[in-house]
Amino acid sequence: MRCPKCLLCLSALLTLLALKVYIEWTSESRLSKAYQGPRGTPPSPTLVSTEPTLPANLSVRLGQTGPLPSAYWNQQQWRLGTLPGGDCQAWGTAAAAEIPDFASYPEDLRHFLLSAACRSFPQWLPAGEASHVASCSDKDEPYLLLAVKSEPGRFAERQAVRETWGNTAPGIRLLFLLGSPLGQGGPDLGSLVAWESQRYSDLLLWNFIDVPYNRTLKDLLFLAWLGHSCPSVNFILQAQDDAFVNIPALLDHLKALPPTWARSLYLGEIFTQAKPLRKPGRPFYVPGSFFEGGYPAYASGGGYVIAGRLAPWLLQAAARVAPFPFDDVYTGLCFRALGLVPRAHPGFHTAWPADRTMDPCALQGLLLVRPLSPQDNIRLWRQLQDPQLQC
Ligand SMILES: *[C@@H]1O[C@H](CO)[C@@H](O)[C@H](O)[C@H]1NC(C)=O
Ligand SMILES: *[C@@H]1O[C@H](CO)[C@@H](O)[C@H](O)[C@H]1NC(C)=O
Repeated sequence: MRCPKCLLCLSALLTLLALKVYIEWTSESRLSKAYQGPRGTPPSPTLVSTEPTLPANLSVRLGQTGPLPSAYWNQQQWRLGTLPGGDCQAWGTAAAAEIPDFASYPEDLRHFLLSAACRSFPQWLPAGEASHVASCSDKDEPYLLLAVKSEPGRFAERQAVRETWGNTAPGIRLLFLLGSPLGQGGPDLGSLVAWESQRYSDLLLWNFIDVPYNRTLKDLLFLAWLGHSCPSVNFILQAQDDAFVNIPALLDHLKALPPTWARSLYLGEIFTQAKPLRKPGRPFYVPGSFFEGGYPAYASGGGYVIAGRLAPWLLQAAARVAPFPFDDVYTGLCFRALGLVPRAHPGFHTAWPADRTMDPCALQGLLLVRPLSPQDNIRLWRQLQDPQLQC
């Protein structure tokens, strides 16, 4: 080589070039980490529809194409036109008579089935009072409505949500969904809940027994309430009262969604391969004589977001999907009936390990975690507000 300096020059140049490429690459990947843009299953124009439809025959939509199992739900769904509105008790009575081992079903499942077709309940109102929950006015139609499923006795959980992530910013509205505070054989919480309702104007209560198997009633009665009192809301977050929601991150995500996704949004932690659990005595047990087959892809009920304009569609679908005891699976079935697919987002963690809730940094970039105690909710909120927080 005649020019050793040239060689030196060349290698220096190459090093610089490599450095530039490296810096660009790392800053890009950091950028894309900070920008939690739209995620989830990319829409495939042939398979995935973004407009809801409700065909006259739901069998294909609900996967009832092979030989029909003899399980009660499967048989009912096959035959079902619309659920009875008037004599709703008859549906349950027939179920009790036709399911051969009905007497061996867990008590709460039996109660669920006996009243499952009864879905219209009046609002529970303190004696002589009107509802304290105002309708949305044309001027302040919320962008995001936080619909939090609670139970009358869970005062501390609700207060923690009010003092933290539910502390509403412009465009956001917080409502709690509850059954009757009179309970069943429990203490009468009526006057306490009446006071709370007057003080905060954020409780939507209906006159049914508030037990987990009645959660679908909260969904359906809330969707009906939306139809007449808040019809133009953009998005609805359905969450439980032990969730922590990173509202700024959620808003960023929603605002960055492609319009076609946003229109039919069903977003959360998605279970795609779930099957009924067959261990009697354990939570979520489903007897084989009641349901056969796999669950539809559905968003975990701990917290998910839907597009507000789907509310009337979901109600129409629910009238034609046979009752199922778990609210989130049932919502999944209704979306499936409408031909819409859920979108998974890795920022939803509805079974967040307790040790991680101690670490505010673990929450950065996430949208929703649960379960958290009211105390943990408040502590986490304070830590995230702290300008000194360094992750
Ligand atoms: C619904 O569609 C399925 C599958 O195509 C068909 O077998 C069934 O007979 C249809 N049911 C009714 C009531 O038309
Ligand atoms: C749900 O509420 C209704 C109305 O109060 C009640 O009849 C039914 O038994 C409740 N469901 C369960 C599973 O307890």
